[in-house]
Amino acid sequence: MTERVAVIGAGPSGLAQLRAFQSAKSKGEDIPEIVCFEKQQNWGGLWNYSWRTGLDQFGDPVHWGMYRYLWSNGPKEGLEFADYSFEEHFGKPIASYPPRAVLYDYIEGRVKKAGVRDWIRFNSTVRRVSHDDAGGKFTVLVHDNEEDRDYSEEFDYVVVASGHFSTPNVPEFEGFNTFNGRILHAHDFRDALEFKDQDILIIGTSYSAEDIGSQCWKYGCRSVTVSHRTAPMGYKWPENWKEVPLLQKVEKNTATFIDGSTVDVQAIILCTGYLHHFPFIDEELRLRTNNRLYPVNLYNGVVWTGNPRLFYLGMQDQWYTFNMFDAQAWYARDLMLGKLNVPDQNEMESDIEKWREEEDSIADDYGAIEYQGRYTRHLMDMTDYPPFNIEASNQAFFEWKKHKKQNIMTFRDNGYVSPLTGNRAPAHHTSWINALDDSMESYLQTE
Ligand SMILES: Cc1cc2nc3c(=O)[nH]c(=O)nc-3n(C[C@H](O)[C@H](O)[C@H](O)COP(=O)(O)OP(=O)(O)OC[C@H]3O[C@@H](n4cnc5c(N)ncnc54)[C@H](O)[C@@H]3O)c2cc1C
Ligand SMILES: NC(=O)c1ccc[n+]([C@@H]2O[C@H](COP(=O)([O-])OP(=O)(O)OC[C@H]3O[C@@H](n4cnc5c(N)ncnc54)[C@H](OP(=O)(O)O)[C@@H]3O)[C@@H](O)[C@H]2O)c1
Repeated sequence: MTERVAVIGAGPSGLAQLRAFQSAKSKGEDIPEIVCFEKQQNWGGLWNYSWRTGLDQFGDPVHWGMYRYLWSNGPKEGLEFADYSFEEHFGKPIASYPPRAVLYDYIEGRVKKAGVRDWIRFNSTVRRVSHDDAGGKFTVLVHDNEEDRDYSEEFDYVVVASGHFSTPNVPEFEGFNTFNGRILHAHDFRDALEFKDQDILIIGTSYSAEDIGSQCWKYGCRSVTVSHRTAPMGYKWPENWKEVPLLQKVEKNTATFIDGSTVDVQAIILCTGYLHHFPFIDEELRLRTNNRLYPVNLYNGVVWTGNPRLFYLGMQDQWYTFNMFDAQAWYARDLMLGKLNVPDQNEMESDIEKWREEEDSIADDYGAIEYQGRYTRHLMDMTDYPPFNIEASNQAFFEWKKHKKQNIMTFRDNGYVSPLTGNRAPAHHTSWINALDDSMESYLQTE
């Protein structure tokens, strides 16, 4: 009887899994039956924008956390699919920091070409994954959102590709209940114009803080104050932007920080990260981790050590993204096809420990990029995923870091070398600061 694989989520990670199986099939290999469950009406995961916040039309938490005018925050040369270059998709070289719509089109282009849409059941939310040790099968309980109907099916393998940047981590600070303005998490941020002419306070110092602050600045907020728990970001910020220590309390519109300084603001945006949250997975199968490069209990960052027929894709903190998800998906595929094997649980755990110790000794961001590049290559070397020049991707990330240090508001004006074609990307026709139109049409214009 044909084996069955459930893939949960049709974002970049889940789509990588579908493409991996379709690639094997196109080479004449027998593949299992694949069923991908996607709770949204369309594919693309976070890249599939919606105005909705809070609950979706079916009463479930919205997954989307991307916003209007979002451009890639890292160079596209760091994420290029090894089997589908940007040049193949767009028919010409394009600039290095595509807006969301452009990357969405690229993600979609590959899977349209592969013809895997029929493997996906849209509007289908996985409510529970359990495993019957006696029977050796997984039971997946699914809610059909349109018909408001639950049903269960059995699978031999489950691939969890549901992402980990959609359940916000929301700390509370003293006096929030007295604040006379909007307090929101980055997950609910949609349009920087909402904050035009306002003084805003941002909590957190990572990518959401940097990018949402920059967006609000670009689209005309009056001032940005960024409060840090550990350390300031330390870029050369514009004049109306300052970095302050951790927020202590809020009284009406006045925010007080732990050094006693104060600022009056009209909005507070919590850029405080996300939780790995998998309430739909039975406890003994559930990944519990913070956001790091090598989570616990995942052999080769992918295989659940407690049951090697369960896989998690894309659960790492991410420098590398699309091509790393691909490397993971090809590896998981070859385990499911029986072309590769895993060692016993003890050996898997001690291998994980080695990677984690290495991660703990990483000195800086450059080391972290190199580490994740090495991890991606380690997986790639085991399968027929087309080898690509990881050194070139690392190099693009290194240059990106330097360009950000030079000028945080112009780093997106630079171009990098493709790890596939070896061509350097052209500069975008308009500096990011002045490019207010983030449409694909505008981005792809050559003048
Ligand atoms: C604001 C923001 C900006 C980002 N910008 C960049 C960037 O510029 N460059 C970059 O490389 N990365 C960026 N990322 C990182 C992002 O994590 C990856 O690019 C990518 O989207 C991860 O893919 P994924 O498939 O693992 O997860 P997701 O994109 O989150 O997709 C997961 C999918 O699973 C579905 N799903 C979840 N739960 C269920 C369920 N129970 N049942 C059925 N379906 C389910 C969701 O609907 C979704 O479609 C950004 C992340 C955020 C939050
Ligand atoms: N344009 C883009 O492409 C774009 C835009 C936004 C986000 N992203 C992506 O989205 C992902 C998530 O990024 P993120 O910035 O949301 O999350 P993140 O990288 O996990 O960072 C979380 C931040 O919140 C802070 N924090 C957490 N709890 C806190 C608390 N109780 N008090 C004060 N500060 C607290 C952390 O501070 P400490 O340092 O003290 O821990 C850290 O600075 C990344 O992959 C990123 O690349 C991309």
